[in-house]
Amino acid sequence: MSPFKPHQYRDWYIACTTQDLRDSLRHPPISRTVLGVPLVLFRGSHGQAIALLDRCPHRNVPLSLGKVERHTVQGKPASHRLVCRYHGWQFDEQGHCQNIPGLCPLVMEENQRAIAYPTVEQQGFIWVYPTVETAPNHQPYHFPLVEQPKFSTFGWQMQAPISRENIAENFLDATHTHFVHAGLIRSSHQRRPVTVQITRGDRQVEAIYRGEQQISGLIYRLLAPGCREVISIGRFLLPAIAQIEYQTDRNDYRLLMSLFITPIDHQQVQIHSVITFRWGKINWLGRLIGQPLFHQAMRQDLNILLAQAKNLERFGGEQFAYTQLDLLRPHIDYLLQTPDEPTAQSPKPLSRFEKTIAIQL
Ligand code: FES
Ligand SMILES: [Fe+2]
Repeated sequence: MSPFKPHQYRDWYIACTTQDLRDSLRHPPISRTVLGVPLVLFRGSHGQAIALLDRCPHRNVPLSLGKVERHTVQGKPASHRLVCRYHGWQFDEQGHCQNIPGLCPLVMEENQRAIAYPTVEQQGFIWVYPTVETAPNHQPYHFPLVEQPKFSTFGWQMQAPISRENIAENFLDATHTHFVHAGLIRSSHQRRPVTVQITRGDRQVEAIYRGEQQISGLIYRLLAPGCREVISIGRFLLPAIAQIEYQTDRNDYRLLMSLFITPIDHQQVQIHSVITFRWGKINWLGRLIGQPLFHQAMRQDLNILLAQAKNLERFGGEQFAYTQLDLLRPHIDYLLQTPDEPTAQSPKPLSRFEKTIAIQL
């Protein structure tokens, strides 16, 4: 049984980057798994991304072992076909089997079809909608600010044996920064009172931190020089986006960091980060200074998250204690786990939540 709720399949996930999916006549198709659904991806005759279930309907070998060929019929536009490695069945861009070598004439049967999933290519990513039970009724997430003039963007990709929930919680949690990133993001001996406003809607939850005049670590002294007021916002957006935004009292210093955390299965993820920023008038210098610091922070997080994942395995699962400081995790779980249709057993229907608390950061 899938560990993911049905509603999670009715959403868009990043399967790979634009660069990962190259010209399919020159490069082999690629395989990716999204929410436990194995996919083969290749480009069609117009360069469009095609995603099929990575299982040949004939004898179920991975279609990703096959190759893409150009097919032309007189009087018709050329199309691409994915040819299975085992017996050479040929699948068109919609997954229909168009040729079974040696069988004549071909009688097309529905059970000879490879399942095709909707795709969208947007902002340098290939997005997949990993179910055919319903058609998408919305577009994939659009990363804000990326196309804005005066902003620069960079990012990286990473696979990790960690759950989406634990990565999102770690990324959005301010209280580990004094320890895991001591001196880099915050320092424990320089805590200040801060108010946090938590708001949860249908598809997202966010925590707005106010009152940190100057965040105590090195990153902020470098990345927000001369800024007296910093408002930081941590957000989780369905289905898999953890996002931190820093707003300062100066419009020309701004930072938005997003992680799209595609679950491969319930304990492995593929992360695509999108870091968009404005650093005064010289963004290239901000990137030169900032990028190594981000990577250092990511390595520090990865170390503690891998230790956590290993211990979860050793003890057979999660047994967490919560306090008021664990601000977003209960809401992340709530958004991901609340059933689509409220039942008598569900705790309460998906509802708005709003609260402001005081903490020391
Ligand atoms: S398994 Fe694919 S053609 Fe036979
Ligand atoms: Fe961290």
